[in-house]
Amino acid sequence: MPTFAFHTYGCQMNVRESEAAAKALLDAGHTPAPDEASADIVIVNSCSVRGKAEDKALGKLGLLCATKRERPDRVIGLMGCMAQRLGNEVFRRVPTLDFAIGTRCADRVAPAVEAALQGRPTLALRDLHAQPDAPSGHMPNGGFSAYVTILLGCNRRCAYCIVPDVRGDEWSRPARDVLAEIRTLAENGVREVTLLGQSIMNYGLRTPAFDADDPPSPGGYTLPFPRLLEAVAAIPGIERIRFTSGHPSGVTDELIRLYQEEPKLCHHLHLPVQSGSSRVLSRMRRGYTREHYLDAVARLRAAVPDIAITTDVIVGFPGETEEDFQETRTLMEAAHFDNAFIFKYSPRPGTLSATWEDDVSEAEKARRNQILLSDQDVRGALLNQALVGTVQRVLAEGPSLRNKAKWSGRTSSNKIVIFTAPDGLRPGDALDLTILRAAPQTLYAE
Ligand code: SAH
Ligand code: SF4
Ligand code: F3S
Repeated sequence: MPTFAFHTYGCQMNVRESEAAAKALLDAGHTPAPDEASADIVIVNSCSVRGKAEDKALGKLGLLCATKRERPDRVIGLMGCMAQRLGNEVFRRVPTLDFAIGTRCADRVAPAVEAALQGRPTLALRDLHAQPDAPSGHMPNGGFSAYVTILLGCNRRCAYCIVPDVRGDEWSRPARDVLAEIRTLAENGVREVTLLGQSIMNYGLRTPAFDADDPPSPGGYTLPFPRLLEAVAAIPGIERIRFTSGHPSGVTDELIRLYQEEPKLCHHLHLPVQSGSSRVLSRMRRGYTREHYLDAVARLRAAVPDIAITTDVIVGFPGETEEDFQETRTLMEAAHFDNAFIFKYSPRPGTLSATWEDDVSEAEKARRNQILLSDQDVRGALLNQALVGTVQRVLAEGPSLRNKAKWSGRTSSNKIVIFTAPDGLRPGDALDLTILRAAPQTLYAE
């Protein structure tokens, strides 16, 4: 049978959907290729969030399709957000592509591969208001840590963001399905789950289009997000729970109480802020002000002193002045972020802000980006330095990529620790380690 490989761009949602599609191909009798170069079937899972992400995927598809000249039987397919956005247009850009499968229909990937092997192309796009196909299959031997998608789509419509256009309406998976999936994972040795959703704290709040038309199937109910976290924590074998991405409106007293009382809930929150200027936040349609955001951070830090908070920031949003930018700088300092992903604003077709002038020059975006990155380097180094001498519970992951003699693992706060492994250590085992030394991105222990 032909072998397959995935090349995945974008967020964890895509990583998760590539895995579920891989499991479907495995069930259909195909085998994973040892590497992409030898694979008979290569599937690019694409992202549309910034122009560059799309350029990379198109470039990759061009290179892959060029290999068909020597290997005419090779199947090259596209799935994910860019397939959804471009639709038929993608076949004009990449004429020898075998298939393009949009979002909400990952169940179409395996049939599209079968069709391609018989020489038939496929374009599959599902209605973005229809109930999505939630990824549920996991690869066997996937390790001790797994992603589980609980919320699909997004209803927020931030002014800059293409995700609602390519991922469709927000939809909470029935809690029963989520919990059954995690139970099976735990039975197969998974110790850590990361729950995924674009605006994950909305889980269970509403599934509007679906609740109205079809009454939930038996057991098809959802739970409020904190209740779901408790239900996951009750599953035997699960030792650590993470989730992403957060929104300040979801930082409720109830969630904070869970951070304090539920030892399985990791002390890390990814809470994208995007900007420190209330004026910009309002034009971004983020639904909070600088003060609201800092208040959420202060409440979290007061109640859970060792929590790590990470963020996303966009520089150069239309109309962002030097003063706005300085407000982002001071907010980042006040919030003491453990890590930050800084993005240069990229206008996306069809979004609200794409109708406004992209008036911050590329050079200025690069300058602001650089300043925030170097601020964050200094801040990250200081925060890591403060952990020297503390004892941290680390979940072992495996031999370190850089130095095979050492192992790496993660703290509850998601920091990477490099340490000497005791004999017989297995991935997923927990150890209490004293931190001896700190670098900006890494901690070292004995
Ligand atoms: N759902 C998540 C974000 C998903 S997109 C959330 O709201 O928290 C991941 C990140 O990409 C965003 O947090 C934002 O910082 C960045 N991003 C989204 N659209 C962008 C654009 N048009 N230009 C630059 N960065 C963008
Ligand atoms: Fe995009 Fe906003 Fe939804 Fe995040 S919450 S995916 S930034 S629209
Ligand atoms: Fe990109 Fe789609 Fe995720 S646009 S960030 S892969 S939801």
